Amino acid sequence: MSVGTMQELLIDELKDLYSAEKQIVRALPKLAKAATTPQLQQAILNHLEETKGQVIRLEKIGELVGKKLTGKTCVGMKGVLEEGSEVLEDTDKGTIRDAALISAAQRVEHYEMAGYGSAREFAKLLGLSEVASLLDETLAEEKAADKTLSGVAKQVNATAKREG
Ligand SMILES: [Fe+2]
Repeated sequence: MSVGTMQELLIDELKDLYSAEKQIVRALPKLAKAATTPQLQQAILNHLEETKGQVIRLEKIGELVGKKLTGKTCVGMKGVLEEGSEVLEDTDKGTIRDAALISAAQRVEHYEMAGYGSAREFAKLLGLSEVASLLDETLAEEKAADKTLSGVAKQVNATAKREG
């Protein structure tokens, strides 16, 4: 057993998130390239830059808690991103693919929101207020990214229905 205390649970969650963010940084350029709708492409590219900042923020959190966050693979995110890649096999380039990409991207955001929300609460409970507020910053970005995707989906889905 490697996780026996709240402190260890927080570190474990942080490592998971760190792995998840790094996987996302690698995956997003391919998904942006696969998108047709300019607003979707832009939303993905914006979130790529934001995600790079989230990696750096986690590194700062690692320094605050005195731990390296490397060495763990977030298997859940690996699966979510694999499903995102399946979209590229299952669809041709166009708005149907875009609608599927948004659905996949929103899975990514929701997975992250669950992780960041939990980690923030653990940090709060442990009295690590600076860590909690940094986690909260990222959580807010993930929520905003999700909301942006919902907005883009309205247009993309309507177009996809017309064209499909
Ligand atoms: Fe993220």
